Amino acid sequence: MKFFVDTADVDDIRDLASTGLVDGVTTNPSLIAKSGRNFLEVIPEICELVDGPVSAEVAATDHETMLAEGRKLAGLAPNVAVKVPLTIDGLKTCKALADAGTKVNVTLCFSPGQAILAAKAGAAYISPFVGRLDDISSDGMGLIDEICTIYANYADFETEVLVASIRSPNHVIEAAKIGADVCTLPPGVLRQLVGHPLTDAGLAAFLADWAETGQKILDS
Ligand code: E4P
Repeated sequence: MKFFVDTADVDDIRDLASTGLVDGVTTNPSLIAKSGRNFLEVIPEICELVDGPVSAEVAATDHETMLAEGRKLAGLAPNVAVKVPLTIDGLKTCKALADAGTKVNVTLCFSPGQAILAAKAGAAYISPFVGRLDDISSDGMGLIDEICTIYANYADFETEVLVASIRSPNHVIEAAKIGADVCTLPPGVLRQLVGHPLTDAGLAAFLADWAETGQKILDS
């Protein structure tokens, strides 16, 4: 399973990328607004920090402008993945960009039918939003299961399932059980995955016992 981080905060991305656990980054217009950064400046900066894909989302809603924006975003760095919304114009743009060799992340997916369309349009990634479905008492992880089952039926569907709108470590674990390709995690959730009170207590006990021995592993 690949881990992307879902943020446009360069400091967070640098810190998490240094762990070697980050395979890519996703941004969206809300995350860019939250960062307070200039979109066209921050995306190349993020692309320098990770080798994998960095999703940058178009802001237009009509095909022609989306395509022009997508081409411009793809030109910012070799590892940009252009993000388009799951609309007819978005799917048209996805097909055109994918045919030209650009990776496309189709976002705002809330149904299996939408996911089929994105695969047919040549999307590199489909982003179903699990948290936002859970928020309205729908079954976010059920959607991931359905999409993974459908995609597995068709060898010509090369689209990866990118679990988005993740709210907790449990979402990551459930997505991994299903076999989803990628999770995009808010930095806080990635850090939460590390922690366990028994790890903390166990480490404290080991360190205390070690100190009792008076030994050192390194000379200096
Ligand atoms: C990722 O690509 C999405 O933009 C993001 O996961 C949405 O998350 P949210 O529902 O927490 O805003």
